[in-house]
Amino acid sequence: MKGRILVTGGAGYIGSHTTVELQNAGYEVIIVDNLSNSKVEIIDGIEKITGIRPAFEQVDCVNKAVLTTVFKKYPDIKGIIHFAASKAVGESVHKPLLYYRNNLVSLLNLLELMPEYDVKGIVFSSSCTVYGQPERLPVDETAPIQPALSPYGNTKQINEEFIRDAIHAGASYKSIILRYFNPIGAHPSAEIGELPNGVPQNLVPFLTQTAIGIRKELSVFGNDYNTPDGSCIRDYINVVDLAKAHVVAIERMLENRSDEQLEYFNLGTGKGLSVLQLINSFEQATGVKVPHKIVGRREGDIEKIWANPRRANEVLGWTAKETIEDTLRSAWNWQLKLK
Ligand code: NAD
Ligand code: WQD
Repeated sequence: MKGRILVTGGAGYIGSHTTVELQNAGYEVIIVDNLSNSKVEIIDGIEKITGIRPAFEQVDCVNKAVLTTVFKKYPDIKGIIHFAASKAVGESVHKPLLYYRNNLVSLLNLLELMPEYDVKGIVFSSSCTVYGQPERLPVDETAPIQPALSPYGNTKQINEEFIRDAIHAGASYKSIILRYFNPIGAHPSAEIGELPNGVPQNLVPFLTQTAIGIRKELSVFGNDYNTPDGSCIRDYINVVDLAKAHVVAIERMLENRSDEQLEYFNLGTGKGLSVLQLINSFEQATGVKVPHKIVGRREGDIEKIWANPRRANEVLGWTAKETIEDTLRSAWNWQLKLK
């Protein structure tokens, strides 16, 4: 066993896939999740894949007293991967204080507890949303942070600042901030995947629900953007590839492979795909048609963004490997399982 890792939000979409990869790499995982956006059955799915049941504590990271009991119960936590957060951009506009409380207080509590319990490092889930619409593409980690377009986006920026300022002020731990582009797909076993809450706002869950007949039609938000086919461009990254980057990041911190106390990495494929190209790839990969129509632009959408992942490729030695077709097939197989 390589050591204990606390995975907050480990019952969620990216957290569950990361737990699988951590266990496969020989880490002992303790999941803390309040199940506000996940189901406890995901823990069974993790166990089915790896044969190991991760420890699970149904705890709200906002509640410092209860969170402290986890550190007491599991001494010798070496590192934290902090996924727990509210993540619906639209909801954050209507309930900003809920987002600020949940996403900011959770991280504050962890940063305060880490030195007390001698935790060596924290990996933080950030987002390409911090770049807004970049002036230059592909966007690298040195691009300026733009004013946030939503309270959710603002929580990611403020969280990054919490970590930066704490380390600047002499905190003993290391941190790696991972800026994800658009995670999609599911584990190839179809034992775990994304559990959309209500009507999905994100493209791929809406698309697979349309393909299976839960939704009548997928709306393509705009075909008059300054892109080759007029629809928006994103960098869609396979969730298992994304999960693997977390294992590399935690190893890098715990094994002191870098002199830097704080590092930032883009996690993307480096390839931009338009909404229409993605629909086409899905149809090619699965043979299933997706009824869709062009509608007006969605407010607040970025026209085009894709990553320059060179730093992650060269420094972490991590590269996104899965093809878009395999990734979309995995999303479809997960949808077939969910029905
Ligand atoms: P998710 O909602 O599936 O997972 C988050 C998990 O955290 C859920 O299981 C939820 O129940 C739990 N949680 C929320 N608040 C909590 C709290 N206070 N205490 C304990 N548990 C809590 O989301 P995800 O897609 O897996 O995202 C994981 C992280 O990655 C989030 O921080 C998110 O902002 C970030 N991120 C996600 C994306 C994306 O497109 N999915 C992109 C960029 C960044
Ligand atoms: C992708 C593309 C839409 C739905 C959001 C957050 C971001 C990050 C990832 C967490 C866009 C188009 C979508 C639909 C469509 N999350 N679309 N019809 O907007 O890139 O990013 O999730 O950090 O912060 O903002 O992802 O999946 O919503 O949209 O045409 O029904 O699909 O316009 O071009 P987005 P998305």
